[in-house]
Amino acid sequence: MRKRPIELKVIIRYFLGLNFVRQTVIAGNWKMHMTCAETENFLKDFIPLIENINTNRNIVIAPPYTAISTFASFSDSMNLNIASQNIHWEDSGAFTAEISPVMLLEHNVKYAIVGHSEPRKYFSESDEQINKRAKSAQSNGLTPIVCVGETLEQRERGEAERIISRQVEQGLEGTNSSDLIVAYEPIWAIGTGKTCEAEDANKICKLIRNLIGYEDVVIQYGGSVKPNNIDEIMSMSDIDGVLVGGASLDPISFARIANFK
Ligand code: PGA
Repeated sequence: MRKRPIELKVIIRYFLGLNFVRQTVIAGNWKMHMTCAETENFLKDFIPLIENINTNRNIVIAPPYTAISTFASFSDSMNLNIASQNIHWEDSGAFTAEISPVMLLEHNVKYAIVGHSEPRKYFSESDEQINKRAKSAQSNGLTPIVCVGETLEQRERGEAERIISRQVEQGLEGTNSSDLIVAYEPIWAIGTGKTCEAEDANKICKLIRNLIGYEDVVIQYGGSVKPNNIDEIMSMSDIDGVLVGGASLDPISFARIANFK
């Protein structure tokens, strides 16, 4: 693969004598979409579109489990990492429908999404379980992408910051902040086409950074990220990447997001 150009903000920080450690992480969450054949077609179209991307941009996709090995067969030839959509805290056992870290490592998976609002809503995932999953990822050498976010009712009642603070404190307890991604995903913005105002999202991402107390933790925004709003979202000071659902299923849309300006 061709060497990619170094991003301008990296050069500026270098000349200002500032260490640049925060990575940009653009992640796609395919949810319960994409067969193996569709995955192959997607990758054939997508890979050439991200070849010249900046060096500090990390592109990640979480395919369904059945497509992980198809995905992994391409991963040697590109700078595209695989995430799992969940992870259990045990290596094996009687846990029907769960996936173990050992199984994921076998397929070169590098990240694990935990605490997404869908399992929180449909399967009553608790902050305690999410915390166990995040710690399991870290102790097995995978980086957890821990999702937090408030509902519309909570936001309208003025409770967003309190809810996010609780999810961060309980979900991240005992985790290593230097090997962590937190995705702020307001639930009312997921799959609805309603994006959180970039300034509002940035405020919450800053709050999360302050709560964690580690300046270089990677914080993403998620919720109706599209080619037409990515540039504004990524211009925010405390947003280091995005977690994308619907728009990550189309190679052209997701490549435009990955190549944000
Ligand atoms: P969306 O999903 O981009 O389709 O809103 C985001 C997510 O669920 O992570």
